[in-house]
Amino acid sequence: MLLEMKNIVKYFGPVQALKGVSLSVNKGEIHGLLGENGAGKSTLMNILAGTFLPTGGDIFFNGNKIENLNTKKTQNLGIRFIHQELNLVNDLSVYENLFLGEELIDKFGFLNKKEMIKKSKEVLERMSLDIDPRTEVRKLETSRKQLIEIAKALLFDAKLIIMDEPTTALTNKEIEHLFILMKKLKEHGVSMIYISHKMPELFSVCDKYTVLRDGTFIECGEFKNINEKKATELLVGKSLENEVTEEQSVFDEVLLEVKNISLLNKFKDVSFDLRKGEVIAITGLHGDGRDYLAESLYGVHKIESGEVFLKNKKLDYKNIEGTINSGISMVQRNRKERSIIKDMSILDNFSISRFVSKNKSFLINDKVQVERFDFRKKEMGIKLGNSSNTITSLSGGNQQKVIIGRCLELDTDVIILDNPTQGIDVGAKFEIYKIINALAKNGKGIIIFSSEYPEINKVADRCLVMYRGEINKELLREEFNELTIMHFATGANMEEKYE
Ligand SMILES: Nc1ncnc2c1ncn2[C@@H]1O[C@H](COP(=O)(O)OP(=O)(O)OP(=O)(O)O)[C@@H](O)[C@H]1O
Ligand SMILES: [Mg+2]
Repeated sequence: MLLEMKNIVKYFGPVQALKGVSLSVNKGEIHGLLGENGAGKSTLMNILAGTFLPTGGDIFFNGNKIENLNTKKTQNLGIRFIHQELNLVNDLSVYENLFLGEELIDKFGFLNKKEMIKKSKEVLERMSLDIDPRTEVRKLETSRKQLIEIAKALLFDAKLIIMDEPTTALTNKEIEHLFILMKKLKEHGVSMIYISHKMPELFSVCDKYTVLRDGTFIECGEFKNINEKKATELLVGKSLENEVTEEQSVFDEVLLEVKNISLLNKFKDVSFDLRKGEVIAITGLHGDGRDYLAESLYGVHKIESGEVFLKNKKLDYKNIEGTINSGISMVQRNRKERSIIKDMSILDNFSISRFVSKNKSFLINDKVQVERFDFRKKEMGIKLGNSSNTITSLSGGNQQKVIIGRCLELDTDVIILDNPTQGIDVGAKFEIYKIINALAKNGKGIIIFSSEYPEINKVADRCLVMYRGEINKELLREEFNELTIMHFATGANMEEKYE
């Protein structure tokens, strides 16, 4: 056994996040840590990483009792934490990031660049990553940055790597790459703790599981002895209602007309209509223009040609506030970078949309804001202590719910959701899909950008599949399944065109 955490208790002021949780991990094992939003997964791992001190409990590593953990001590033990939020410095090169805080010094006391570059090269090769260690980190794709974090763990000979939702910014292909790497590490005796809300991932890469619920230990076992349904029941604490997707009634009235819009080198000649009551999913592989398309519809990038009409009125896209007031709102992807304001309270993060809303009033009415927040809190099951705490005191998934709630408050005709259920647990996802369906029923038009087939399947009436910046195929509900979507997303039908 490599790690044993016993009866761990953690209070944040009056909030008890962990109520006596235990976790054991063997050498060379990938251990999945499961639980709903706010169950205590990140808190438990932050204790192991030495970021938070536990209020009570014991930790054993390699048979030795470990006390007064701090980040340095954990690193020396060979425990490495890969956060969901990237911790790289964009202005530094890859090798400088790899050795940040642990630089190699030569015998004269100077930085030993040559040795650091050499070592970096070795580790990147071991990971089959074709990256020059001298590249500036800002030039790398997000997914590559994630892999650099793992390289860092390898470089220092990690014995245990903690990965807290490492795949939220990765595409399916990159996830596969990551899994191959994890399996390779496992063969070398490295242990890993893997946190994710995506069941297929957990089942494909993990050996054992531990389930937490509301800060308590529920069960530990082997994945081979359970199925997804059972795992979901364990973490929700009940079986989910039968997942019937209601037949949607799409109205005839067209809300949004997108006509031949292009953005140089990103996407080309994209056209589609969105009707009242309709939910469209737009999917495709990373780098195929999906991200830029989503942002352009919102006005973040200036489209170079083409036009967008909302209720027959041409949009001028002068600024985001204008876009919102014309009737389009958006939940952007990558919450930490684009959506949350870290130092502000939960309530203020939620209420900030009132400043751009059409119905804005110059009198700031706190009572109304609190009421609105309470409504969304109930609707989405947001778990929190006090809404005047900073947003960062919420678990990842609960932060995301606040951001979605904020967008819904704008009450626009068209709602764009870019990777909206990132970090949200299975039960809450279900609630959010219900909200999306209800909005559509009330005549809103919704565009959801997503890579997750189960999500597309659950909410979309139509699916547009992108390939190399173009819409390769439009699939109707009865036509789409995981295979057809992959087929068109990989351009399998386009071989001749690109020969
Ligand atoms: N710094 C903090 N201050 C106050 N409360 C906190 C803090 N960090 C976490 N909590 C609370 O502890 C509980 C557990 O949060 P934690 O982040 O561990 O959940 P999680 O299982 O990682 O959830 P998710 O899947 O949403 O990431 C939550 O109720 C959260 O609000
Ligand atoms: Mg978390």
